[in-house]
Amino acid sequence: MTTLLPMRTAVYESYLEHSILSYAKENIQSGRWREENAIEQSRIEFHKLLPQGVDTPDQYLFEIIGKDNQSTVGFIWFAVVSDKGVRLAFVYDLEIKAPYQRQGYATQAFKAIETLVSDLGLSSIGLHVFGHNTGAQALYRQLGYEVTGMNMLKKL
Ligand SMILES: CC(C)(COP(=O)(O)OP(=O)(O)OC[C@H]1O[C@@H](n2cnc3c(N)ncnc32)[C@H](O)[C@@H]1OP(=O)(O)O)[C@@H](O)C(=O)NCCC(=O)NCCS
Repeated sequence: MTTLLPMRTAVYESYLEHSILSYAKENIQSGRWREENAIEQSRIEFHKLLPQGVDTPDQYLFEIIGKDNQSTVGFIWFAVVSDKGVRLAFVYDLEIKAPYQRQGYATQAFKAIETLVSDLGLSSIGLHVFGHNTGAQALYRQLGYEVTGMNMLKKL
């Protein structure tokens, strides 16, 4: 059984750097950002969302703990946001480390945050997934997420 551990400050430091690079890479791959300033752009977005790191109000960052009750197998981060007056949870990041993928960890982490989100009095969870990330899309479909809109882009 997977458990979620509030992210430790020491873990957060390396998580942040890794996530800034991954998010920059994803945005380059999707054609949204130019390579020259992608890392800087990513860094700005992370710092805007997490000005106080793990202690930022309304931001919930967790380490996903493996079956051995010890190893950090991945990370999940959601926030409480307002969209046109409606408060909901929004998943900003999910990552399962490569050796632990396809073992049900992401599924279990999502079940765990559904309980936390309900306990916060919220009734929905939103997220964004890149068009090229077909694996994550398959996961979210399996978990019951529906597409609410779609951005499209043609590279010329
Ligand atoms: C996407 C990701 C979070 C999935 O985590 P995971 O722990 O491997 O997912 P699960 O084991 O819970 O998978 C549940 C189901 O989702 C689907 N799925 C998950 N990864 C998939 C993949 N790479 N390709 C196709 N389907 C996939 C499958 O239906 C899977 O069930 P199955 O293994 O019985 O076939 C993980 O691959 C990852 O961290 N990738 C890199 C970061 C990333 O893309 N994060 C998502 C950002 S939106």
